[in-house]
Amino acid sequence: MRVLLLGSGAREHALAWKLSQSPSLTKLWAAPGNVGIAALCECVAVDPCAPDEVVACAKRLAIDLVVVGPEAPLMEGTADALRAAGIDTFGPGRAGARIEGSKAFAKEVMAAAGVPTARAEIFTDVAAAAARARAWGAVVVKADGLAAGKGVVVADSGADAEAAVRSLAELPAGKTILLEERLSGPEVSLIALCDGERYRLLPLAQDHKRLLDGDLGPNTGGMGAFAPCSLLEGQDLARAAAATIAPVLSELARRGAPFRGALYAGLMLTAGGPMVLEYNARLGDPETQPLMMVVDEDLLPVLRACARGRLPSVDPLRTRGAAVGVVLASRGYPQAPSTGDAIAGLNAAASADLQVFHAGTKRVGAEIVTAGGRVLTVCARAATVAAARSAAYAAAAPIAFAGRHYRKDVAAHA
Ligand code: AMP
Ligand code: GLY
Repeated sequence: MRVLLLGSGAREHALAWKLSQSPSLTKLWAAPGNVGIAALCECVAVDPCAPDEVVACAKRLAIDLVVVGPEAPLMEGTADALRAAGIDTFGPGRAGARIEGSKAFAKEVMAAAGVPTARAEIFTDVAAAAARARAWGAVVVKADGLAAGKGVVVADSGADAEAAVRSLAELPAGKTILLEERLSGPEVSLIALCDGERYRLLPLAQDHKRLLDGDLGPNTGGMGAFAPCSLLEGQDLARAAAATIAPVLSELARRGAPFRGALYAGLMLTAGGPMVLEYNARLGDPETQPLMMVVDEDLLPVLRACARGRLPSVDPLRTRGAAVGVVLASRGYPQAPSTGDAIAGLNAAASADLQVFHAGTKRVGAEIVTAGGRVLTVCARAATVAAARSAAYAAAAPIAFAGRHYRKDVAAHA
């Protein structure tokens, strides 16, 4: 199979690493890829968010399967354009990706599908939202659209909630505002590979979204993740998926938008059971990095079966051991990440059980320098989460760049 992978993050590096081990792979390309991905396959300078360019590239390279990593190309209709051109694509069309792109749409689908989620009220009038927020008090305020992690405020008081409404309404994503009941409990990432109707579950993962140890500091794209997470296993995991993945697939198919890609349910495990906080229309980052290390079967035929709408099996993916990924971030992340700092210590031996996945890096002459907020994900696999955690931290320590920051408590409470 000739495969084109779209994206340039550590998630896509992990996917490229996994796919490049597939016996059914003829050749892998990535667009645009990154420094780490370039060591595994050929990178082409094509913008994933330009559907026509991606289709032209896929035709020129006689691609059998396109795998879309990030959400932005999905929202731009890249998967729709590829499918219209007859090219198998792992990743939903625009209509399905709206489940991530609009929180109001996600709520509407959840209501129609009977998915357990927090009670919400939706506003397009700022004054009305502000008044309701003041009266509600301890409430979660959300901008409807994508806001790069800055679109959600968990308010403690009516005054905070009202201020949050007014500031989120200033964002392009905040034309519609949601007020949502505050839930509590641990958060987990449940990801299913879907063929439009059926799905195969990845093991449960857990992300660490806050910048600092102890879940303090601002929200980020994710500072580390591990899998499997023991908070839901076996029948409990299957039941959670039956309540949060299956009905959404049915509802989207009923609306004429069968979802062929990774459906990610961000769950809060409340006293009343798992509740959905959000959906993503793609694999998680950094969750994918440890997930790719524990999946113990050939992923490529599974992604192609999803793209073609006929998964031959609905068993959870077979896994081996546990993996932990620690994100090394640059100084100033997430507000104002510094770039251009030389990275030392990248030459340690990689193996099936130890990988350093690149995200914000760039090659400048003989050096590799930082080029973004989340720079690398250091990922280790071992028999247990505790052993994988030790191995990941031992591998992270010698990798040095000015202002390097990472959490020390990834998977510490697993
Ligand atoms: P979201 O982008 O919707 O996943 O929200 C970002 C973060 O806000 C989540 O990871 C939670 O920590 C928090 N959050 C979102 N919705 C709620 C809720 N209904 N109750 C409590 N916390 C929430
Ligand atoms: N790790 C959270 C996300 O991928 O959205």
